[in-house]
Amino acid sequence: PSTGLLDARQRPLRDLRISVTDRCNFRCVYCMPKELFGRDYQFLERNELLTFEEIERVARVSVSLGVRKLRITGGEPLLRRGIENLIAKLAALRTPDGEHVDLALTTNGSALPVKAMALREAGLQRVTVSVDSLKEDRFQAINDVKFSLSRVLDGIVAAEHAGLGPVKINAVIKRGVNDDEVLALAEHFRGTGRTLRFIEYMDVGSSNGWEMGDVVPSAEILRTINEAHPLEPLEPSHPGETAKRWRYIDGCGEIGLISSVTGAFCGTCTRARISVEGKLFTCLFATKGTDLRSLLRGGADDEALAAALTGLWNERDDRYSELRSRLSTESSPTRQRIEMSYIGG
Ligand code: GTP
Ligand code: 5AD
Ligand code: SF4
Ligand code: SF4
Repeated sequence: PSTGLLDARQRPLRDLRISVTDRCNFRCVYCMPKELFGRDYQFLERNELLTFEEIERVARVSVSLGVRKLRITGGEPLLRRGIENLIAKLAALRTPDGEHVDLALTTNGSALPVKAMALREAGLQRVTVSVDSLKEDRFQAINDVKFSLSRVLDGIVAAEHAGLGPVKINAVIKRGVNDDEVLALAEHFRGTGRTLRFIEYMDVGSSNGWEMGDVVPSAEILRTINEAHPLEPLEPSHPGETAKRWRYIDGCGEIGLISSVTGAFCGTCTRARISVEGKLFTCLFATKGTDLRSLLRGGADDEALAAALTGLWNERDDRYSELRSRLSTESSPTRQRIEMSYIGG
């Protein structure tokens, strides 16, 4: 069975992205705007969240079905109490051939100065940190809780010291917000061994008021950087990679361009997502997930869980980003979508 499952479009199941909390200490204007995620916003209760044992079971069965990469997300995953205990469980998983599974975590970096070492000791392999601006004022305005940029940059260094490198940096570029910093971001991370990835601003969720005019196409980003520091394309490091890789010709490392809007990569998408409360989503833009929690809590054994996952994956036909790019309208299809902070980036 290690050859794995295929969906309705012949795509294998290779990655499982696990959201461990719907909470975040940031209120990024494009993700959890304060007007919507205010004081009285109802986050999920503790008993609604999958326990670490439940997450480990879903991950273990997924690995038996072909998953080779686990990514812990949120919300802000480092806010989940005892997260290192979950990491230790996941780090102990082995494929049917006895291999380790790639284990990574996406974070806003705020807790890395405190937690990096414990994460590494628990068996985490690497982290991806979001840095959307290198201007202290602007960074604080984007996260909207005045969290300091220098503390996040310290977190990146702490992660490297702990052995969680090479660190990947995610920057979401939004027109009129930080598109003037593309070159500065590239130059800051060039030659540091950190890989900066530029992400096109996406129409995830319903709360960020996305418009096509907000998107800065990857082609434009590439042009801007290439004019100053010539780049050449690199082969993908694995099939189905979200980022297109480009290396600096002078040897100062590489960047990635994640073109979710202008260059949909649904054709090779091997990702499943499990939400905080145990719903399985076969697409970032899925409108509804399938409740695995009641299965887990209803006493289903591993075989039953494997059968459920197999059935869901076999039926999978999602390719939202491809379909969106075929629409002639300038807006995103009007339908209810799941918030990124809930389903996990
Ligand atoms: P690595 O390259 O192994 O580090 O993993 P990754 O590319 O999945 O990295 P990461 O989790 O940092 O993803 C980067 C960003 O790409 C996410 O935050 C999303 O914005 C976007 N992304 C990831 N997966 C998908 C996907 O399946 N569909 C779409 N449309 N966007 C995605
Ligand atoms: N479009 C693109 N990326 C987004 N992220 C959050 N919301 C969006 C969006 N609307 C990014 C975060 C983080 C990653 C998990 O997803 O900035 O880097
Ligand atoms: Fe939190 Fe990340 Fe969303 Fe910002 S983008 S609010 S850090 S989950
Ligand atoms: Fe995969 Fe859905 Fe993203 Fe397409 S839109 S790459 S199918 S998660």
